[in-house]
Amino acid sequence: MAQEFDFLVIGSGIAGLSYALKVAEYGTVAVVSKTELKETNTAYAQGGIASVMYDPDTFEKHIEDTLIAGDGVCNIEAVRKVITEAPEQINQLLNWGTSFDKDSEGQFDLHREGGHSEHRILHHKDNTGAEIQRALISQIKNHPSITVMEHNFAVDIITQHHLGKVTEPWMRDIQCYGAYVLNKEIGKVETILAKTTMMSTGGIGSVYQTTTNPLIATGDGIAMVFRAKGIIENMEFVQFHPTSLYNLSVRPSFLITEAMRGYGGILRRINGEEFMHDYDSRGCLAPRDIVARAIDNELKLRGDEYVYLDVRHKDAEETKQHFPNIYKKCLSVGIDITKDMIPVVPAAHYLCGGIKVDLNGRSSINNLYATGECASTGLHGANRLASNSLIEALVFSDAAAKDAVKSIDKIEINKRIPTWNDEGTSHPEEMILITQSNKEVQQIMSKYVGIVRSNIRLDRAYDRLEVLYRETESLFQGSKVSEKICHLRNKINVGYLIIKMARKRKESRGLHYTIDFPDKLKD
Ligand code: FAD
Ligand code: SIN
Repeated sequence: MAQEFDFLVIGSGIAGLSYALKVAEYGTVAVVSKTELKETNTAYAQGGIASVMYDPDTFEKHIEDTLIAGDGVCNIEAVRKVITEAPEQINQLLNWGTSFDKDSEGQFDLHREGGHSEHRILHHKDNTGAEIQRALISQIKNHPSITVMEHNFAVDIITQHHLGKVTEPWMRDIQCYGAYVLNKEIGKVETILAKTTMMSTGGIGSVYQTTTNPLIATGDGIAMVFRAKGIIENMEFVQFHPTSLYNLSVRPSFLITEAMRGYGGILRRINGEEFMHDYDSRGCLAPRDIVARAIDNELKLRGDEYVYLDVRHKDAEETKQHFPNIYKKCLSVGIDITKDMIPVVPAAHYLCGGIKVDLNGRSSINNLYATGECASTGLHGANRLASNSLIEALVFSDAAAKDAVKSIDKIEINKRIPTWNDEGTSHPEEMILITQSNKEVQQIMSKYVGIVRSNIRLDRAYDRLEVLYRETESLFQGSKVSEKICHLRNKINVGYLIIKMARKRKESRGLHYTIDFPDKLKD
């Protein structure tokens, strides 16, 4: 028996939960999360959330900073929308019980990060995301219209394709009727029908070997929409965070927040030399793509495994007070950041592109919205300004909620959807077929489609991934659905989209840098 809801929300980060809370006043809501509600990229966010708060900051300055970072690919309307609506959404977060640090005069203690011309980052110590996630979960759990479905994995969205009709990427009348969802506790794929569906499945960091993202960031939503023939864009713009703690055996890589460079942290070679001024006049406060490429270059030139981030010159008590979690984490691996330099390396961190949406968060598939990291709203363009993503998720989820409730009473649930058919499938006998392919995907993406790219590397990556694609599709068709095989399939789809879009771009722009076309084409 299918379950029916007015609103289906796939994902329990800031995008999904803030949307769910807003639409829940207008109908029944299911929030599906593949692990626990709290295991999200959102909960890992450290630096904070950007919003213009006080003089001398202005919307125009924040808009300008965002456009400069976006390198000619931003949609100005999306940029204006997010930045001018940010203060209202910050108020909403406060009303939901989120707390941000204040100074002794009771004003918000605003940080400044790379690429920002003013102090405008609200934060809760160095674990802002965990605080936001906590507040949202406490609201969700108390809401009578919201059904929380943890440990439920969305396998695919349901469209006309599942009614035996052919759908094509250029069709503008593809409909979303809900999703097939694997209930992990009973191992069965169930049908969830909904009038509208929100895709808020987050990022793709796990497609790479080294990432700051938790293991859930496998690009599932993007892969599902791609398979359903929805429009995906800007996938070549993958942001690598310059400073994650060097520790190859730990996944995800622990983030050393950019706020540490804003605080005065200095990047140094292993021999102690400062090097960022060799690359950019802004030194350590240059935008993160420039810093990440500079570190990548230093590591390749010198054959070193890491560079250092140094805050030893700062007041030790202040450092501990500003960065309590980083202090604790580093101490646990024998690094006292008030006395020792921190070994850091770049790691895959954020995807600027994704499911193309309009200003209301609508995807190209009818009754399917997408917001948060899986969506491409036009805010970030070719490069994201630090701390602009949490606020983007809030603003676009708000817009999507307002849009979705307007038409909810006119949409009918489609009752003719067949149940998931797994006749003739069996459990794969050898899990090594999945685990080894997964490693290969991550290696291919990290070695060939990382911070610096080239034609030959991209071609090689494409050819290798194609083999994995064929093998995995054939395994998937014959297998009972499991999260592991779906993850592999989704990562291959996402890797393919990144490579395909990177190969198309015959220039270097924003986060996409290729040695074969080092210059930017004229805008
Ligand atoms: P997420 O918070 O990742 O939530 C995704 C949800 O989807 C999860 O609940 C997951 O379980 C669920 N899901 C995924 N696939 C499926 C599936 N198939 N079925 C069911 N459920 C599924 N941004 C800032 O603005 N400021 C910062 O300071 C900042 N710091 C960061 C630090 C780190 C270490 C990281 C990793 C990111 C940081 N970011 C920051 C980026 C920001 O955290 C994310 O872009 C944002 O939280 C994404 O929110 P989201 O709701 O889109 O996705
Ligand atoms: C950080 O704290 O450096 C991450 C900020 C971000 O990704 O926006």
